[in-house]
Amino acid sequence: MTATESAEKLLAPVLSAFWDQPNAWTLDVYRRHDGYEGLRKALAMDPDDLIAYVKDSGLRGRGGAGFPTGMKWQFIPQGDDKPHYLVVNADESEPGTCKDIPLLFANPHALIEGIVIACHAIRSRHAFIYLRGEVVPVLRRLHAAVAEAYAAGYLGEDALGPGKPLELTVHAGAGAYICGEETALLDSLEGRRGQPRLRPPFPAVAGLYACPTVVNNVESIASVPALLAKGKEWFRSMGSEKSPGFTLYSLSGHVANPGQYEAPLGITLRQLLDLSGGMRPGHRLKFWTPGGSSTPLLTDEHLDVPLDYEGVGAAGSMLGTKALQCFDETTCVVRAVTRWTEFYAHESCGKCTPCREGTYWLVQLLRDIEAGKAEMADLDKIADIADNINGKSFCALGDGAASPIFSSLTFFREEYERHITGRGCPFDPARSTVWADDTGRSDDTAHLEVNA
Ligand SMILES: Cc1cc2nc3c(=O)[nH]c(=O)nc-3n(C[C@H](O)[C@H](O)[C@H](O)COP(=O)(O)O)c2cc1C
Ligand code: SF4
Repeated sequence: MTATESAEKLLAPVLSAFWDQPNAWTLDVYRRHDGYEGLRKALAMDPDDLIAYVKDSGLRGRGGAGFPTGMKWQFIPQGDDKPHYLVVNADESEPGTCKDIPLLFANPHALIEGIVIACHAIRSRHAFIYLRGEVVPVLRRLHAAVAEAYAAGYLGEDALGPGKPLELTVHAGAGAYICGEETALLDSLEGRRGQPRLRPPFPAVAGLYACPTVVNNVESIASVPALLAKGKEWFRSMGSEKSPGFTLYSLSGHVANPGQYEAPLGITLRQLLDLSGGMRPGHRLKFWTPGGSSTPLLTDEHLDVPLDYEGVGAAGSMLGTKALQCFDETTCVVRAVTRWTEFYAHESCGKCTPCREGTYWLVQLLRDIEAGKAEMADLDKIADIADNINGKSFCALGDGAASPIFSSLTFFREEYERHITGRGCPFDPARSTVWADDTGRSDDTAHLEVNA
């Protein structure tokens, strides 16, 4: 079998099927690829039947936790005389995660169609897209696509049937990772400082403006139109019983061909690397994240783990956002973990003590370890601090911050120890492209001085 044939067999381009075509993001091109077909079918269905259909399909949220989408919609109370809201989470700020932004850039109508379908299901008349504000080109393209959808009658007056309007508001966030956490997002959308809310009440009961609200990831909602158009049996023909369907895998780091690879759930990293050209020439995989930096890292022993919720869970990690960041043998794991932890310390919203204080102290200790100024006891100390953050913080950002610490100590404790016994980083940063800036110079030379 040729490489192209095997790729065709393994991949399942749906959301990404026509990204490479001219003007892929326009309504014309979307319609030429059966765009708004799923909506036509959905509007002919009773909302409760539609929810049951999505539930039966087995679609699980693509924002990280994999919560069943139909079940989330079902939690919205009916006949409560309150407005219902759909909020699409397009904040995408997790290190390594890079699927929603390209999806919105190349195929915004898949999301808009999915929004109209979901609003019909949950009986909502107003939806919001909360977009990471820095991505101005995507914001512009999204605004243009929304304007096209209004002009074509998919949004606005009578969008959901005679006398049933639907409004869609695109909101640009100000750039804070915590605003991707769904309740912090709702506070931010209401104009407050983005910090997680205490639950219960859950958003399904008291979400945006204290009304029943569904918060879903971009990819979750954008997957719904194809599911409707082609049917739940087609959707279930991909993946496994508990993790059915297609999804976007984002391959990045030291790989020959980084990018989005859309495939059935359950494909393995080995298969993805085989069909995408592997690691960069002359190098081998050392460690990787299955779903962004918040998911415990895995190693080359885990190349055959099925990339679905159960498979990655059984391997001790989480599927998360399917952001497969691959690092080769030139990468210092201590350095990578230090950089991630600096990110979490910077993005910690400060609301709860374990995360606010813990991430700060982790950074201090990790910098010392990386620079060769630490003692062996500091390894137990970082494990202890991570343990005091994990499961004891107010929101999942804290758990995410602890993940790289635990997992790197599990698989690479000896590498940490070498930093301490060798009084510095054993890696030559000149050989690592990950941390070098555009000039090729390392962004931190402190440990070189220690080595010299
Ligand atoms: C710190 C933090 C950041 C998050 N960032 C995002 C994000 O950018 N996009 C997203 O969809 N979910 C994000 N989530 C998960 C959301 O809280 C929520 O679970 C998700 O939007 C639900 O969508 P889904 O059911 O469609 O997966 C984040 C969670 C945490 C704790
Ligand atoms: S875990 Fe961190 S981000 Fe979450 S509420 Fe606590 S301080 Fe804020």
